Amino acid sequence: METVLVTGAGGYIGSTLCAVLLEVGYRVIGLDRYYFVLDLLRDLIANPNFKPVVHDEREVSEEHLEGVAAVCDLAALSNDPSSEERYVLEAVARSTEQQNWRV
Ligand SMILES: NC(=O)c1ccc[n+]([C@@H]2O[C@H](COP(=O)([O-])OP(=O)(O)OC[C@H]3O[C@@H](n4cnc5c(N)ncnc54)[C@H](O)[C@@H]3O)[C@@H](O)[C@H]2O)c1
Repeated sequence: METVLVTGAGGYIGSTLCAVLLEVGYRVIGLDRYYFVLDLLRDLIANPNFKPVVHDEREVSEEHLEGVAAVCDLAALSNDPSSEERYVLEAVARSTEQQNWRV
């Protein structure tokens, strides 16, 4: 069973993607700062193939990628009104550094 790391797993798209990946047979690591306290994931928490990780994606290290076959990078400030006014925040959140650990 392959493992997929989903960043932004607690968000609108990430939470749905995690459910779909589990349904089709992947193990899923759901990494997020979880601003919304795992609310959207409450149905997934009981699934033994789902592992929530409370972490900032800008500080992801090699250990987070151990055994990971693919990364779906959805962490963003997209629904945060501050992002619309200050798009620089979004650019910082998705810094070029993180491109280096994309699979
Ligand atoms: N929702 C849409 O209709 C839509 C449409 C097109 C593209 N997108 C893109 O898809 C992506 C996800 O969108 P969404 O609607 O699910 O957003 P969302 O705001 O619902 O979820 C984003 C998640 O990222 C997390 N996050 C933010 N910064 C983080 C960090 N540094 N480390 C870890 N987690 C962090 C937040 O806690 C949140 O749970 C975004 O890049 C967005 O631009 C969304």
